[in-house]
Amino acid sequence: MSLSPGLLLRDFRLVDETMDMPGSVWIEQGIIRDVFPQGALLPETRLPMHQTIQGGGTLVLMPALVDLHAHFRDPGYPEKETLESGSLAAVAGGYGTVVCMANTKPVIDTLAKARTLKKRADTLGLMDLYPVLALTQGMEGKVLSEIRCLKGPLHESEPWIPMLSEDGKDVVSDDLLYQAMQEARRLGVPLSCHCDAGGPEAEEAKAAGKPREFWSRIEENHATQRVLELAWQAQGHVHIAHVSTKESVDLIRKAKGRRQEKPGPLGFTLTAEATPHHLCLTHGTAHALGDTTWGRVNPPLRTEADRQALIQAVRDGTIDAIATDHAPHTERDKLQGAPGFTGLETSFALCQMELVQQDRLSLSRLSSLMSASPARILGFTDRGRIAPTFRGDLMVVDTEAVWQVNPSLFRSRGKNSPVPGLPCRGRVLMTIYQGRVVFESFLSPDSSSGKGK
Ligand code: NCD
Ligand code: ZN
Repeated sequence: MSLSPGLLLRDFRLVDETMDMPGSVWIEQGIIRDVFPQGALLPETRLPMHQTIQGGGTLVLMPALVDLHAHFRDPGYPEKETLESGSLAAVAGGYGTVVCMANTKPVIDTLAKARTLKKRADTLGLMDLYPVLALTQGMEGKVLSEIRCLKGPLHESEPWIPMLSEDGKDVVSDDLLYQAMQEARRLGVPLSCHCDAGGPEAEEAKAAGKPREFWSRIEENHATQRVLELAWQAQGHVHIAHVSTKESVDLIRKAKGRRQEKPGPLGFTLTAEATPHHLCLTHGTAHALGDTTWGRVNPPLRTEADRQALIQAVRDGTIDAIATDHAPHTERDKLQGAPGFTGLETSFALCQMELVQQDRLSLSRLSSLMSASPARILGFTDRGRIAPTFRGDLMVVDTEAVWQVNPSLFRSRGKNSPVPGLPCRGRVLMTIYQGRVVFESFLSPDSSSGKGK
């Protein structure tokens, strides 16, 4: 991929996790070289051949987003999504880095399969895709995958595998999950856990015909407790995916407190993510969309009390990152009950409206949750901030642009948004990857840029 010679982004509001100030940014060879505060003399005559993008008004320049959790369905389910459509959706949502889950066909459970995917994504040159490796062969929960044979640490031998996960399914056997955690520690990468192995209480509730919202809560809480206990013994870095119940939030908060008092001999890191849909929506939305069809997702949308607990958790750092769990499906699959929402193209607007515009978080803190913090979880020190030596992966946002979610305009093949028709304020207008513009919004006639309501 050719890197752009030079890009000057002039007179923007610059926001990342450590700053919110007016200024300009100079990118050269794909890397941020300089950040100039407003009023500083730009040494334009000394800059080599370059392109200029002018800011102003309500335009904000932020680091591109980093997604810890997406499903691109490639290989195996091109009717739902492909590497190409998923990547286009990602850059349209402001993402420069996306971790893709392994529940494809075939399952990504070997280095060779992961490498093929990674090479194809790199050829597209739109953003950085990172495949996870599944924990067990074929995600069948019986035998550990190739993770058992790899040489560690992975950041030296295979730095493009920054995470392991069996997402889409929990590993039911405690013993196998514990072994996987030990391998992840040996390999020096986080293991992302999909917590829904319910245990006997959930099974009883199911058998007694209790509703899904009842037993799925028991499942998540039980599985989170189990993962925290196993992680405490195995040590290493365990990451909890899509936290959705207030009880799980409490368990994670307590485990983090305990870890701080006594980190353990081998080093134990615990991180957690929440999705935009669990932070912004509740079961009322699922019900309106159809609990068993368009509103179905794993874990399910929960109560207002759960949502408030999640918001508190992103405010106090119990939840470290916001990840989409982008899960595209066809209309047919949704009508047959496939769980999941498409989310890459609406995540920033939803979070900005619900968290920033409602004064629950600053834009700087949202940037931390969607860029710098997920980058840190993956061990990347080169992205997620606007500072010299960081990658020129950025997005331009208009915090006042008014638009409406129209799934038929999504780049994603998955039109299964939980918020079709939602009026939004705040939009990603441009995505820059390694100093090159890879996405520029075409504002439809029903959109306007300027002062919103
Ligand atoms: C996931 C998918 O579609 O891959 N769906 C979801 O609702 N999160 C799988 C899963 O976690 O069930
Ligand atoms: Zn998922």
